[in-house]
Amino acid sequence: MVTYRFAVPSDAAQILKYTKIIGSESDFLSYGAEGLPVTLEQETRFLHSIQADPYNRFFLALDGEQLIGCSNLSGSNRPRFSHRRELGISVLRDYWGKGVGTGLMEQMIQYAKGTGVELITLSVRADNLRAKSLYRRFGFVLCGTWPSYIKVGSRSFDVDMMAMRVRP
Ligand SMILES: CC(C)(COP(=O)(O)OP(=O)(O)OC[C@H]1O[C@@H](n2cnc3c(N)ncnc32)[C@H](O)[C@@H]1OP(=O)(O)O)[C@@H](O)C(=O)NCCC(=O)NCCS
Repeated sequence: MVTYRFAVPSDAAQILKYTKIIGSESDFLSYGAEGLPVTLEQETRFLHSIQADPYNRFFLALDGEQLIGCSNLSGSNRPRFSHRRELGISVLRDYWGKGVGTGLMEQMIQYAKGTGVELITLSVRADNLRAKSLYRRFGFVLCGTWPSYIKVGSRSFDVDMMAMRVRP
């Protein structure tokens, strides 16, 4: 059974291992097989710091004890930006198409609704049809496209900006 919860500092090692796996399975993320460029200490400190930070939330999807998906809502306490969060999401390839992404989206949007967030934004490689289909189903709309915004090896890809109004 898949369960969802907030990440805690003791998840740091499993999260870093996860980013190496998903980074090798998908070219749609901002990193590859090297995973996130942070140490275990830095990741632990980060997870500790966001526990008391209402602008940053990190969600996990677990199959039993195994980490199978991650998502996050990141924001700023600057008054002019504090109504907005940026969304990120990934699920291990073995679990694609089984509703785990949907479950993480539901967790994040429910959290956003309960905490006064007004707008969620995200960026997605324009050819990432699976992710865009998921986002559209949750009410995200296309706001524009950055040409050649991301480079994977020597290939450049356009990136779409999408947004969803949580409340008017
Ligand atoms: C994008 C991602 C998070 C989706 O997670 P998931 O668990 O597969 O999502 P779900 O099973 O809940 O839904 C998948 C959607 O993709 C659709 N889909 C499945 N295969 C597809 C395909 N080949 N092309 C287009 N859409 C496809 C499903 O029908 C479903 O669409 P719906 O939302 O309209 O019903 C996951 O595939 C992933 O981690 N991809 C790699 C990393 C990534 O791209 N992250 C997003 C970066 S912006």
